[in-house]
Amino acid sequence: IGYAGGENSTRAVDVVLESLARLEYRGYDSAGVAVVADGIVQAKKAGKLQGLLDELAAQPLPATTTAIGHTRWATHGSPTDENAHPHLSFDRQVTLVHNGIIENHAELARDLAVRGIDTVSETDTEVVAHRLALALAETGDLTEAMRATVQELEGSFTLVAIAADSPGTVVAARRNSPLVIGLGDGENFVGSDVAAFVSQTQRAIEMGQDEMVTITPDSVAIQTFDGEPVEREEFHIDWNADAAVKGGFDTFMEKEIHDQPAAVRDTLLGRMSPTGALQLDELRIEESILRRVDKIVVVACGTAAYAGHVAKYAIEHWCRIPVEIELAHEFRYRDPVVSEKTLVVAITQSGETMDTLMAVRHAREQGAKVLAIVNTHGSTIARESDAVLYTHAGPEVAVASTKAFVAQITATYLLGLYLAQLRGNKYSDEVVTYLDELMKMPDRIADVIAREDEIKNLAREMRDVTSVLFLGRHVGYPVALEGALKLKELAYIHAEGFAAGELKHGPIALVEEDQPVFFIVPTPRRPLLHAKVISNLREVSARGARVLCIAEQGDTAVDEFAHAVFRIPETPTLLHPLVSVVPLQIFALALATEKGLDVDQPRNLAKSVTVE
Ligand code: G6P
Repeated sequence: IGYAGGENSTRAVDVVLESLARLEYRGYDSAGVAVVADGIVQAKKAGKLQGLLDELAAQPLPATTTAIGHTRWATHGSPTDENAHPHLSFDRQVTLVHNGIIENHAELARDLAVRGIDTVSETDTEVVAHRLALALAETGDLTEAMRATVQELEGSFTLVAIAADSPGTVVAARRNSPLVIGLGDGENFVGSDVAAFVSQTQRAIEMGQDEMVTITPDSVAIQTFDGEPVEREEFHIDWNADAAVKGGFDTFMEKEIHDQPAAVRDTLLGRMSPTGALQLDELRIEESILRRVDKIVVVACGTAAYAGHVAKYAIEHWCRIPVEIELAHEFRYRDPVVSEKTLVVAITQSGETMDTLMAVRHAREQGAKVLAIVNTHGSTIARESDAVLYTHAGPEVAVASTKAFVAQITATYLLGLYLAQLRGNKYSDEVVTYLDELMKMPDRIADVIAREDEIKNLAREMRDVTSVLFLGRHVGYPVALEGALKLKELAYIHAEGFAAGELKHGPIALVEEDQPVFFIVPTPRRPLLHAKVISNLREVSARGARVLCIAEQGDTAVDEFAHAVFRIPETPTLLHPLVSVVPLQIFALALATEKGLDVDQPRNLAKSVTVE
C-alpha cells in the first residue's frame, strides 16, 4: 500500500495500517511501515501485523503526508525483522516495498558489492532499494530513478517507493504482479489490490503490465517503462470491504483456485539459468550426495500426499530412481528401510503438520537426508530439514488445499528435472522440453478456470447426488483420489477415487443406473494408456452410469459414452494433473456452494493439523 495526502497528519499512517489489516490475508509473516517526515522513518517487525501495531501504539510514527506499508509472505529469506519490508537504501534516501521475486538479485548484489554497498538482509528486495537510491542520486527525480531501476530487474515485481526529499510523492511500478491505483479527494493510493483502499475510495484505476505510476495528493501520472504516458479509464469498485479481502470472490477457496496460474508461475520463477538449465541453489545438499541417492521416499498427508503420488510417476521416469510415496503417519510407525543413500522428500503446505514433522525427524535419525517442499517460510519442517524447496503459492487460507497442491506438484517436477539434469542419464534431454512445457502451464490452467461455468452448471444439475466415483490411470490416478477427497471435504458427499484398472477387481460392483463416475482421461497422444481408459469408460457406461469426462480438446473417443465432457488443453501426460485437477476442485466447490455449506471452513477439519 502507498498513500499520498495533502497535509501532515496521523491519517497517512492510520490509512496504511488499516490497509495492512485488510491485506493481511495475502501474507502475514512480517509487516512494516515507512513515512517521509524529517527524512525517512520506518518500523518493521516479524510476526503478525498485531506485533507491529503494538509497537507503534507505544512509539507512534510522526505525522506525515506520505506513507507506504507491507505485509510479507517470505520467498527469499526467513521471516525476521531485518527481512521485513520496507527496505531502506544504504544512504537512507529511499525506501520501498516489493511483492514478487527479483530473479537477478544475486547479480545485482554482486555489482553493488563492487561499489562498496553491502546488503544487510537476505531478501531479493533490498538490492532494488540500493539501485533506486543510486539512480536517484544520478537523476534527482524519483520517477526517473524508478524508470531507470526497473530496466535492470528481471522477474516479477510490484514496487512502491518513497524518497526522503520527495514528501507527497509515491512511485510504484509493476511487472507480472498486481497493482491498482485508488483515487481519493485530495489524496491518492496505490495497493496490490483494491482491498487496500476500498474503505477509503471506490474509484480505482488498473495498471497494465510494465507500467509505473507517480501519485501525489492531487495527481496520478501513469507511464510505461519506456516513458510513454498512459491514459486509463477509472472504474468503480462495487464490492464491499469484506468481499474485497477475498479479492472480490465470495470465498477464499474460489480466490485460491483463481490464484493457481500465479502459484505455478511463481514457483517456477527464478529457478532457471539464462541458458535454460535448472538452478536450484537453495538445495543445500551436496551434489555428490544427490548423485548417490538410490531411493526417494515421499512423506506427506492429505492433499500433499497426492502431490507426492504424482511426483512418483514423474521422478521415476526422468531420474530412474525408485520413488515410494508413504503417508507420513504410516512411515513413522513401521520400520521403514532408509539409509544414507535415501532422499526423503517431505511435502507440506503449512510446514507444521505434526505427522509429517515426526516422519522427518524419524528419517533424519535413520541417516537419510530430508528435503522439504514447503509453502511457509520459517515453519518447523522447513527449519528441521536438510534442505527446502519452497513453493510460492502465497498464503492459503481455505482449509481444503488447492493452489498449494498445484504448486507442490510443480516443485516436485522441478526436483525431478533437476536430479535428472544432475545425474545426466539418458532422460536428461527431456529436461529442456519439459521446462518449456512447464512454462506453458499457467496459461493452460487459466484457460480451464475461464470455463468454470461449465463445471458449475454440471454441479447444479448434480446437487442431489449422494455418491460419486473418480477413476484415473497413471498420473490420473492421484488426480482421481484428490477429486474424491475434495468432494468429501467440501460437500460431505461419499466419494471414492480408484485406479481405473482396478475397476473390474471390485469397484464396478458399486456401479448402477445413474451412478456418477468421473473419468480423468489421459491424452490420446499416449494411445495405449488412452485406449485402456476408454475401455473402462465403456464398461461403466454399459452399466448405466452417468459418465463425466475430463478429456483433452479434440479427444472425440469419449463423446459417445459421456453424459458431459469438460475439455482441458493438450498437455504432456506427466504434467496433466496441473490442469485435470482444476475442474474437480471447481466441481467440489460448486456442489458445496449449491448445498449452502461453508467451503472455507468445512466441518471437523483444520487447516494445519498440529497433533499426531
Ligand atoms: C490438513 C488439511 C489438508 C492438507 C493436510 C496436509 O488435513 O485439511 O488440506 O492437505 O492437512 O497439510 P500440509 O500443511 O502438511 O500440506
